[in-house]
Amino acid sequence: MKIFITRPIPEAGIESLKDALDDAQIEVGREDRVMSRETLLEGVKGADAIMSMLSDRMDGEAMDAAGPQLKVVANFAVGYDNIDVAEARRRGIHATNTPGVLTEATADLAWTLIMCAARRAGEGERLLRAGAWEGWGPQQLLGVSVFGQILGIFGMGRIGQAVARRARGFNMTVLYHDANRLDSETETQLSATFVDKDTLLAQSDIVSIHCPLTEQTRHAFTLAEFRRMKPTAVLVNTSRGPVVKEEDLILALKEGVIFGAGLDVYEREPEVHKALLREERAVLLPHLGSATMETRNAMARTAAANIVAALRGERPRDCVSCCA
Ligand code: DGY
Repeated sequence: MKIFITRPIPEAGIESLKDALDDAQIEVGREDRVMSRETLLEGVKGADAIMSMLSDRMDGEAMDAAGPQLKVVANFAVGYDNIDVAEARRRGIHATNTPGVLTEATADLAWTLIMCAARRAGEGERLLRAGAWEGWGPQQLLGVSVFGQILGIFGMGRIGQAVARRARGFNMTVLYHDANRLDSETETQLSATFVDKDTLLAQSDIVSIHCPLTEQTRHAFTLAEFRRMKPTAVLVNTSRGPVVKEEDLILALKEGVIFGAGLDVYEREPEVHKALLREERAVLLPHLGSATMETRNAMARTAAANIVAALRGERPRDCVSCCA
């Protein structure tokens, strides 16, 4: 059996595979960077299982390149917009992800961005490192408050809820919008109020995006949405880049339509819009949401467990689409 992993992952995942499937041939992409399409199509040939990353397009072409023996595409990520799930289903291939294990790490990172964007931490650090700081000033780098403000969560799944829980320590009012409303018990536990999207935009001081990327959420945030937000508001995105129309965000920041933004994800990763790089009020991180050692080990073990189950003819635990 061949297991193809598109780039190096924590050893914990490889060990799990070896322990469970001692006769498997495990091939790992040699370079620690996004695999080129050509290398991917070549590498998957003959694979019974593929462990893919969020930037690997796992469509019908890739599945065909693997061959009819392919049983599972196991994403090393909770988001799975890179997998053509309908094509996988049509071919009888399981598609899996790594939910749960990265919830808290991603919520922590959303809060990192909330704090940094609201308090202009990126600008301050750049100023200081450039040797341009001339000492404390009463009007220097004034940000907006976070404590006691209104947090608006767009997409109230596991990660959105983890972000909401942290808001308690900041004495915040939590509003949320999602295609599916939470049950009332969970709303009470989180002290979160369901509102429509327009209300969320108009009332929130911080809007944090936690929805998956789908045809419904692509460009859910354009200039029209930014114009509905407060001029003092901060936008944070740790979900997927294309949920925000980057060109429009740049314009909104340039014209002061909103106060600032914290981004961990981009429309065309790893490319980042040149104009965004020039926006002082944007805090920009290189897709670090789940990047802690503990979380990446757990993701590796989770993706491996999904592969092991599929190759043993069992139903993987984390199916986004399973065939039996
Ligand atoms: C995911 O799991 O979808 C994250 O974006 C990876 O950090």
